[in-house]
Amino acid sequence: MPTLKFAVLPGDYIGPEVMSEALRVLAHVAKKEGLTLDYQHADVGGAGIDNHGKALPDSTLALCQQADAILFGSVGGPKWEKLPPKEQPERAALLPLRKAFNLFANIRPGLLYSDLTDASPLKTARIPNGIDIVCIRELTGGIYFGQPKTTTKLENGEEQAIDTMVYKTSEIERIAEVAAVTAKARGKKVCSVDKANVLETSVLWRRVVTAYFAKHHPEIALSHMYVDNAAMQLARDPNQFDVLFTENMFGDILSDEMAVICGSLGMLSSASLGTGKNSLGLPFGLFEPAGGTAPDIAGKGIANPCAQILSAAMMLRYSFGLDAVADKIEAAVRLAVATDGVRTGDIAFGKPAVGTKAMADAIIARL
Ligand code: IPM
Ligand code: MN
Repeated sequence: MPTLKFAVLPGDYIGPEVMSEALRVLAHVAKKEGLTLDYQHADVGGAGIDNHGKALPDSTLALCQQADAILFGSVGGPKWEKLPPKEQPERAALLPLRKAFNLFANIRPGLLYSDLTDASPLKTARIPNGIDIVCIRELTGGIYFGQPKTTTKLENGEEQAIDTMVYKTSEIERIAEVAAVTAKARGKKVCSVDKANVLETSVLWRRVVTAYFAKHHPEIALSHMYVDNAAMQLARDPNQFDVLFTENMFGDILSDEMAVICGSLGMLSSASLGTGKNSLGLPFGLFEPAGGTAPDIAGKGIANPCAQILSAAMMLRYSFGLDAVADKIEAAVRLAVATDGVRTGDIAFGKPAVGTKAMADAIIARL
């Protein structure tokens, strides 16, 4: 029996609530498919600060290092907002985790089922069949990590802060490869987003991406777009894109925009893949929902577990090579939500809303 060894980092507020439902779905799938689940829980984010004095405790990092993948919940919230920015759960847990495992490739599907177009702030006429795009974001370079990154006092008494945007060829090429492979399995179209009319890093980005696709993936239709235009085009006509591909900070912003036009954050999963291979020879990855900790609804049992469940499906696909099983989970979520009309409050639109557990039950029923 294949064994799936992964670390479970539920995090804060709704994190643990949706995580336990994703684990219930995984347990069901494992039984049906003859898979053995081998996972352990660890504190991260606010829970790490409260229980270990650190957003990313050493014991949590050690557990992740022994695993083949990380199933992550969400971190942060009002309880820790008064801490210095560098110590806050999001920055002090997620960024070091990405760096520690070289998780350079962030894959965020922008998927809106055709039966859920109501959930999008876009006019339904613009997206009659829903939305189906993917954002590939570089995740360990650019202005997030470049040095120097400092705040200093100038001689005249003013303060000055510096962030540095850096990219080198190899960093651009390896994420270009992820965009190309993703596009090959879809519409064979990649739009690379940059700000080459202003930024040196973008001039290099565009040049390297153009050469890389010409040499290695000539069959893919590659286009380029400035990031300001891309933000506008995403709101105007999202389905003109197939794979949106960009650097770290642009990807942060565009993927949130993509998330909101796809309706509820409660539906959006993500994968962050590393340079490292796990013990199965597959990419080590961190899999997390995009929606955050939703402190306002935490503890009420009403959070949408779909994004966490879909993130678990991505884990099976990328870090365990179980595409067919991932397909089944994704299909079950679609059937439960779209066909059966079982909806949590965020996607109910007049239908009676069910709670977190009932949503997961409906997905399990479809499995
Ligand atoms: C994301 C988040 C993170 C980021 C924050 C929490 C550090 O916004 O995953 O998109 O900026 O990358
Ligand atoms: Mn973000």
